[in-house]
Amino acid sequence: MTVTIRHFLSLHDLTSTEFERLIQRACELKREFRSGRRYEPFKGRTLGMIFEKSSTRTRVSFESAMAQLGGHAIFMSPRDTQLGRGEPLEDMARVLSKMVDCIMVRTFEHDKLVRFSTYSDVPVINGLTDSYHPCQLLADMQTYYEYKGSIKGRQVAWVGDGNNMCNSYIEAAKLLDFKLRIACPEDYLPEPEMLKDSGAQVSIFQDPAEAVADADLIVTDVWASMGQEQEGKERASAFRPYQVNRKLLSLAHPEALFMHCLPAHRGEEVTADVIDGPQSVVWEEAGNRLHSQKALLEFLLI
Ligand code: CP
Ligand code: NVA
Repeated sequence: MTVTIRHFLSLHDLTSTEFERLIQRACELKREFRSGRRYEPFKGRTLGMIFEKSSTRTRVSFESAMAQLGGHAIFMSPRDTQLGRGEPLEDMARVLSKMVDCIMVRTFEHDKLVRFSTYSDVPVINGLTDSYHPCQLLADMQTYYEYKGSIKGRQVAWVGDGNNMCNSYIEAAKLLDFKLRIACPEDYLPEPEMLKDSGAQVSIFQDPAEAVADADLIVTDVWASMGQEQEGKERASAFRPYQVNRKLLSLAHPEALFMHCLPAHRGEEVTADVIDGPQSVVWEEAGNRLHSQKALLEFLLI
């Protein structure tokens, strides 16, 4: 009998029902964890984590999640593995999947992750690529649910770069049936491929004021993602009118939430009074990485 392995390379790997169940389960696991209940289904099981880019939240949340669930996580970077000395990623996938139960990869090109997964005998999780950041969306959607209930039919404004986070928001809008209004300079729009089949769910605006009008949730991200540091100056001038500040936030629904996957640059994509203000839920959002990824690991491994 062949067992099909479920990978989590983008949100597209989930059905709408599975996504909704993951959100519910994440909330449940959070409540149970906070009440002090021990739950250790992963005794003797291991998660391998390959980081080709820096990370704080993704690394610590996966590592803590595995420890709290009774298992173990192994951190690997090109600096201290044979990956940095040219060992092909495909070989790494074949070797690691003989030793660990699940592998999380943070890398550059999304195709590299897809190739990796085809050589892996265990579930592979996207810990961020240039194209997607699906783990962050699990946490963002859990956070929205906790504060406001279902996001179905709600209006979300994405302000800034048409980057990996924006692409994952496009996927989430389709799966969870919310309206996504993207405000983005013309030269930094998401690839047309990403917008395919997004139909009435996603609309693009050049003017951020139009995108945030009456929004229930406003989200932004850095102007230069990891790997784009050289473009920093050019991007800063293109994105300047897209800063999320008090004036822009005041155009949204008065009880709108503000999210940012972090790390944030105060004074660039968001002002301090917004990210540290009463409508910001960024700390709960970051903390939910722990709980939503526990739900994901359980979904993939049990
Ligand atoms: N939001 C997020 O993925 O943060 P890290 O880059 O610190 O993992
Ligand atoms: N878009 C950002 C997200 C960081 C979590 C990046 O890719 O650097």
